[in-house]
Amino acid sequence: MMAYIKNTELLPDRRGISIVANKSQDQSEKNLWASRRGRRLGRISRQRLLFWLLSLAVIFSICMAYVGIKMHFHGSDSLSEDVKEKLRVNNEGSNSLSEDVKEKLRVNNVAEQPVRKPRRQRFFPCEVPFLDSVSYLLEPEDNVNFTHFSLGYVEREEMTLLNGAIEARFGGHPTLKDREKSYHATNQTIHCGFVSRPNGFPSTGFDLDEKDKKYMNTCRVAVSSCIFGSSDFLRRPTSKVISEFSKKTVCFVMFVDEQSLAKLSAEGNVPDDRGNIGLWRIVVVKNLPYKDMRKTGKVPKLLSHRLFPSARYSIWLDSKLRLNADPMLIIEYFLWRAGSEYAISNHYARHCVWDEVLQNKRLNKYNHSALDEQFHFYQSDGLAKYDSSDPKIPLPSCACLVPEGSFIVRAHTPMSNLFSCLWFNEVDRFTSRDQLSFAYTYLKLRRLNPNEHFHVNMIVKEEQSQSYFIIEQTCNEGIMKRAYDGLLLDAGGTLLQLAKPVEETYFTIGQKYGLQSTAGDIKQGFRRAFSAPWPQKLRYQGDGRPFWKLVVSEATGCDNANYFEEVYEYYANGDAWHLPEGAYETMLRLKDSGVKLAVVSNFDSRLRKLLKDLSVLDLFDAVIISSEVGYEKPDAKIFRAALDQISLEPRKVVHVGDDTKADKDGANAVGIECWLWGTDVRNFSDIQNRILLPES
Ligand SMILES: *[C@@H]1O[C@H](CO)[C@@H](O)[C@H](O)[C@H]1NC(C)=O
Ligand SMILES: *[C@@H]1O[C@H](CO)[C@@H](O)[C@H](O)[C@H]1NC(C)=O
Ligand SMILES: *[C@@H]1O[C@H](CO)[C@@H](O)[C@H](O)[C@H]1NC(C)=O
Ligand SMILES: *[C@@H]1O[C@H](CO)[C@@H](O)[C@H](O)[C@H]1NC(C)=O
Repeated sequence: MMAYIKNTELLPDRRGISIVANKSQDQSEKNLWASRRGRRLGRISRQRLLFWLLSLAVIFSICMAYVGIKMHFHGSDSLSEDVKEKLRVNNEGSNSLSEDVKEKLRVNNVAEQPVRKPRRQRFFPCEVPFLDSVSYLLEPEDNVNFTHFSLGYVEREEMTLLNGAIEARFGGHPTLKDREKSYHATNQTIHCGFVSRPNGFPSTGFDLDEKDKKYMNTCRVAVSSCIFGSSDFLRRPTSKVISEFSKKTVCFVMFVDEQSLAKLSAEGNVPDDRGNIGLWRIVVVKNLPYKDMRKTGKVPKLLSHRLFPSARYSIWLDSKLRLNADPMLIIEYFLWRAGSEYAISNHYARHCVWDEVLQNKRLNKYNHSALDEQFHFYQSDGLAKYDSSDPKIPLPSCACLVPEGSFIVRAHTPMSNLFSCLWFNEVDRFTSRDQLSFAYTYLKLRRLNPNEHFHVNMIVKEEQSQSYFIIEQTCNEGIMKRAYDGLLLDAGGTLLQLAKPVEETYFTIGQKYGLQSTAGDIKQGFRRAFSAPWPQKLRYQGDGRPFWKLVVSEATGCDNANYFEEVYEYYANGDAWHLPEGAYETMLRLKDSGVKLAVVSNFDSRLRKLLKDLSVLDLFDAVIISSEVGYEKPDAKIFRAALDQISLEPRKVVHVGDDTKADKDGANAVGIECWLWGTDVRNFSDIQNRILLPES
């Protein structure tokens, strides 16, 4: 039943294909792939699918109406400009973009309907209308409609070519003539990375363990991401939204170099026996092919069809994104339902390659002369700023097509594989800024193959920002500027909220130990005990036990040692606490915007574990705990320690806490602004809105 498909072959007729129908799967999940045996079953599923599609279309319209109201910067205006621009190009130029444009129009029409109301930024509740469950998934047969040809890859270059003088390269040495030829969608063998030298010579890089290779060879659907050069922390897929089916059948692979692995391990993320951290299988890449980590990162990003040679679908995620939806549902939504073989996230703010180049220079993202070199080359090959007065320009680029590229969903069809190779070769030849080469590669491929379809779905921001990534909770935001560069957070009472009131916990646990007091007594007793002066310099030393022992016995009138231990241990566990709503998302958003985050807390040695239990420890650039540093808020020293660790001046930083004396007075005394939790700010979206301001 297994359809073994090498990506170098023609895609066979999809009828009756079953990628994976593992016998051990649940009954409901067996329906996922239409099988020859299950033609009848397929029909039923299709009816269900239709039903779901219709219901979801309605929900989608409602959602999009909501999106429309919330449009911020790149709202419906710029989106429609973009599409109009595309249409103009399309009318005058080739028809090649029409699929893509239609795709966009469909989305856009819905988005444009609503009247515009005053815009206010809020958390956005609407989600991408994925199907509810993988049980109703059915791979459409129509997908066979993709262009057929056979693609081979240059595996090795001979010494004659290298001639001793030229160094061996991972990307090989395609000449400009080879390059030109490779753009034709016909049976051919092209360069596509992984070019080796004759036996006996060192490899050109991206070396993988044989075990990992074997595993990757078996993947039919792959989700991958990478961290090279310790540039990021590990974001685990939101396990609870991923179906058992996908957990069993989809490969989740995180490529890391040895340095990043060491850092992950140091942070406590050690791969288990199977080499996994959570759902991610950690695959270590040795002998990186490029010195520039950004370039190395393009290997897994663009060449998933080479790394997973049997895969029919793959999803690429930037390491900044967290997978927050089932991968099969993502594939259904962005590829199957859209009739696409390639879907990529569009840039939220820039649609013009010209702007992209300027922006790259402005932000000094890359060596200017290398950028110019690449861009002049493209211009000499016909990439031109779109000018409506000149219909002769062959590659009107300023219309569209700056991908943001953090998210790519692919069917491994010949056209999609060819495009990925061509795109990679541009990155290999020029700069690693793949946003620049995307438009050129895409337009050139279309221009040279006017009769071949290549169905690309440029995913618009509204879809990206929702649901499947936690990364952006607010629906629609343009470029934001920071009012502060650092955020300090108090822990207990601000970032950490009790799951249950103290008195309830003390009371419940106390029943075992013959506790006499009522919950009401405990509540009052706790307040009294907690605010009573503490004779020693520090309340929280080490594990803070002496202080808490006194509080518990004062509050409850029970000084049983076992009782205290049980209470103490209860609060040492993440289950006893929760984050305020939206806190996690806000902190991610702030981090993405370059805001440094630190905890500044009067707490004992349990705090680090608590932050870890709540999966936020790795969000912080610094964690300053009084029991560790030896001074407590409002002491200026604890705030200075935080400023020191995040290297910021007081006026660039804001502190949020719930105690007037410890937090507000303490922070203000060192020149740090403070917002009182519950008074100045009531939730994390308030905090976000006061730190990230629209750039006007
Ligand atoms: C398949 O492609 C042909 C043109 O090559 C087109 O006429 C037809 O409508 C396409 N079918 C689907 C289902 O997209
Ligand atoms: C391309 O290769 C396939 C088999 O790999 C073959 O069936 C087909 O005829 C070839 N097409 C051309 C134009 O040579
Ligand atoms: C910048 O790029 C140019 C052209 O590619 C190269 O010659 C030069 O060495 C680069 N400069 C730096 C500082 O990397
Ligand atoms: C957050 O608090 C503000 C008041 O400070 C309120 O207007 C807003 O609706 C709240 N947002 C959420 C998401 O609860």
